[in-house]
Amino acid sequence: SETASLVGCSRLNKFLRERYLNLPQGEFCQVTYVWIAYCGMDLCYKTRTMDFTPKTIADIPEWDTIGQTEGFSTEMPLAPACMFRDPFLLDPNKLVFCEVLKNTREPAESNHRNSCNKIMEKIKELHPWFGMEQEYTLLGVDGHPFGWPRLGFPKPQGYLNVTMSCYIHIIHNFLFGPQTWEFQVGPCEGIEMGDHLWMVRFLLHRVCEDFGVVATLDPKPMTGDWDGAGCHINVSTVQMRAEGGIEHINKAIEKLRKRHAEHIRVYDPNGGEDNKRRLIGCQVFSSINDFSPGVANRGASIRIPYRVAQNKCGYFEDRRPAANCDPYAVTCAMARTCMLEGEEELK
Ligand SMILES: *[C@@H]1O[C@H](CO)[C@@H](O)[C@H](O)[C@H]1NC(C)=O
Ligand SMILES: *[C@@H]1O[C@H](CO)[C@@H](O)[C@H](O)[C@H]1NC(C)=O
Repeated sequence: SETASLVGCSRLNKFLRERYLNLPQGEFCQVTYVWIAYCGMDLCYKTRTMDFTPKTIADIPEWDTIGQTEGFSTEMPLAPACMFRDPFLLDPNKLVFCEVLKNTREPAESNHRNSCNKIMEKIKELHPWFGMEQEYTLLGVDGHPFGWPRLGFPKPQGYLNVTMSCYIHIIHNFLFGPQTWEFQVGPCEGIEMGDHLWMVRFLLHRVCEDFGVVATLDPKPMTGDWDGAGCHINVSTVQMRAEGGIEHINKAIEKLRKRHAEHIRVYDPNGGEDNKRRLIGCQVFSSINDFSPGVANRGASIRIPYRVAQNKCGYFEDRRPAANCDPYAVTCAMARTCMLEGEEELK
């Protein structure tokens, strides 16, 4: 079956593949282009060989992909946006995150980076810092939660702590339930938040491929009394970090209160529908219908960490974004609502 052959691929090819990967690559450099598919959630990638090693993003030429505009398949330009070292093909090879454009050079529908970048430019003197906690669920290639018994439900498991080292601002990676994991990315300034989180998601999916498991970012992959998966975001500006910054934090929270429904619409890729299954209003998850700020309260939609309340400066945490949110859309909404002066519309 297809499943059996997939498992076979991920288990067998690793050893054979090493032999080819270890061949000397000479002066050449392999550049892997990564981009968001037109559905806005999946990631695609393809690799090209260059006869020089790019030093900056400006050295990377555009490429193209087949995408969809207004329901038709067309060729769409891939515009390189940021570059990382490649932990799979190793130095000097590169991973390049790209924006997808239409042939008119306007951003594709799935491309939220373009407008996010414009807003981040406008507010750059506020030095907006973000941190995001990506929760995800590991499934076997059969779609069953990884590590769960074939039939029935597991007993709660102990606490594991795996640390990943890589080239991005990633903190650590741990298991807090029988199936749910998380890693934290940040602090990142401005557009870097979306760039780094999307690239870490790519690393996650590629690593899982090697181990024959599948990571899903579905906010509620198992129906029933299991925790959902979110992507909490920490937010601060230079004003919030300064002495007495709590005043700016409170102001931002008041602005967020007025736009609760608008924010919920951009906190998952389906206009709030995915998050409905997760934000059910219980001890750990706020209700999707309420805006509930609180100090050191995990059930609140917006949380002021205890230490921040004590120090009267720092940051706040918005616990509403779903695990499958687009971090460009989330940071952009955050910047528009809390950091722009005047009432610019969300979208
Ligand atoms: C966000 O803030 C919380 C509360 O202080 C902290 O535990 C968490 O590590 C922070 N996460 C990120 C990604 O910055
Ligand atoms: C997880 O590992 C990291 C890195 O070794 C360490 O700093 C952190 O304290 C550990 N967390 C727990 C809860 O054990």
